[in-house]
Amino acid sequence: MKIKDLEFKKFFTAARIADKVTALAKQIYTDYNGKNPLFLPVLNGSFIFAADLIRQVNLECRVSFVKHASYQGTASTGQLKTLIGLNESIFNQDIILVEDIMDTGLTLSKVVEELRGLGTRSVEIVTLIRKAPARQHAVQPKYIGFDIDDEFVVGYGLDYDGLGRNLPDIYKAVGNPS
Ligand code: IMP
Repeated sequence: MKIKDLEFKKFFTAARIADKVTALAKQIYTDYNGKNPLFLPVLNGSFIFAADLIRQVNLECRVSFVKHASYQGTASTGQLKTLIGLNESIFNQDIILVEDIMDTGLTLSKVVEELRGLGTRSVEIVTLIRKAPARQHAVQPKYIGFDIDDEFVVGYGLDYDGLGRNLPDIYKAVGNPS
C-alpha cells in the first residue's frame, strides 16, 4: 500500500485493534467504577480510537476535545503548541486523556503538566500505541494498547501528511521514512 512517496505494510488488523480497544475499555470501566471521568481525546489522530473506546465504557462520563500539534510529515518538529479547545470546567475532575500514539511523549507530558496545574483531581493517559522512545519518558500512560518499536504508522485515525486516517487497519512504513 502506498501513500505519497512511502510504502506501507499491514501491521494491526481492524479485528486485532477492536479486541485491544475492548480490553482497554474494560480496564477503564473497572478502575473508574463509581467515578464520573472526563475523557479528553487529543485531536486529530485519536478521533476513531476515542469513538470506539468511549462507547464501550459504560460509565456516566463527559467527553470534550483538545488539540495540539507537533508533527509535520514523519518526524516531530519539537515545536510544541499549547492545548486549545478546553472549555469544560476541569477543576476536581478525573481526566482521562485519549491519545492515538506516543512517540517521544513530549507533547503529552506538557499537556499533563498543564492539566495538573488547573486543579484536576487526577490525570491519566490511555494511548492506543506507545513507541519505543516514549518508554524513556517520565510521564507514562496508565493504559497502553500496543507497544511498538520506532516505526511510522498510519490508519485508524493516524495520518501521513494528512492522509490515511480513514484506513480501518494500521500499517507501518517499510524502510526508515525519517
Ligand atoms: P510526541 O510528542 O513525539 O509523543 O508525538 C505525538 C504525536 O505525533 C501523536 O499524537 C501523533 O499525532 C504524531 N505521531 C507520532 N508518531 C506517529 C506515527 O507513527 N504516525 C502518525 N502520527 C504520529
